Amino acid sequence: MPIRDATTDDWPAIWPFFHAIVTAGETYAYDPDMSEERARSLWLLPPPGRTVVAVDDDGTVLGSAKMNPNQMGPGAHIASASFMVDPAQAGRGVGRALGEHALDRARRDGYHAMQFNAVVQSNTRAVALWRSLGFEVIGTVPEAFRHPTKGYVGLHVMYRRL
Ligand SMILES: CC(C)(COP(=O)(O)OP(=O)(O)OC[C@H]1O[C@@H](n2cnc3c(N)ncnc32)[C@H](O)[C@@H]1OP(=O)(O)O)[C@@H](O)C(=O)NCCC(=O)NCCS
Repeated sequence: MPIRDATTDDWPAIWPFFHAIVTAGETYAYDPDMSEERARSLWLLPPPGRTVVAVDDDGTVLGSAKMNPNQMGPGAHIASASFMVDPAQAGRGVGRALGEHALDRARRDGYHAMQFNAVVQSNTRAVALWRSLGFEVIGTVPEAFRHPTKGYVGLHVMYRRL
């Protein structure tokens, strides 16, 4: 599955599924009412961040990932990443391909490890996917996320060395 660096021209294709995922309120601690402009600046990162898109043979954007140092300065050798796949394209391997790409890219960029700071405990698909890519849950912040139907659920910190 081709994965390439995103450009501002990709944003109109990313925004509809970004918006759908964030307004669903089940997987990201993002403001569901955030403006499109705010969303674009949050997702399309300047260096040293990177944003990529996974595309179909016909160029359709299927999903996107952003990667960045998890902290600044003395914490900048640990990478972090975020992922969104168009719900219409779920379950066909896009998330796995983006995850593998992010790990490979972080390794090549010289990061020591990758950390996800806030994986919603009830997001079983994501938790299973990250575990299968070698991440472990190193801790869970209890009741840190207010799920629209499940109430307060935990946020996992997930980590793997590179
Ligand atoms: C999580 C997400 C990135 C997964 O992307 P995807 O393209 O649907 O995932 P894939 O098709 O690559 O499936 C990956 C794995 O998910 C797991 N999975 C798939 N369907 C599942 C289900 N219904 N229940 C539990 N796990 C499931 C499997 O482990 C699968 O592995 P496999 O390749 O062995 O079958 C995507 O659903 C998404 O963008 N969700 C909303 C935003 C989000 O949750 N982002 C991650 C925040 S941490």
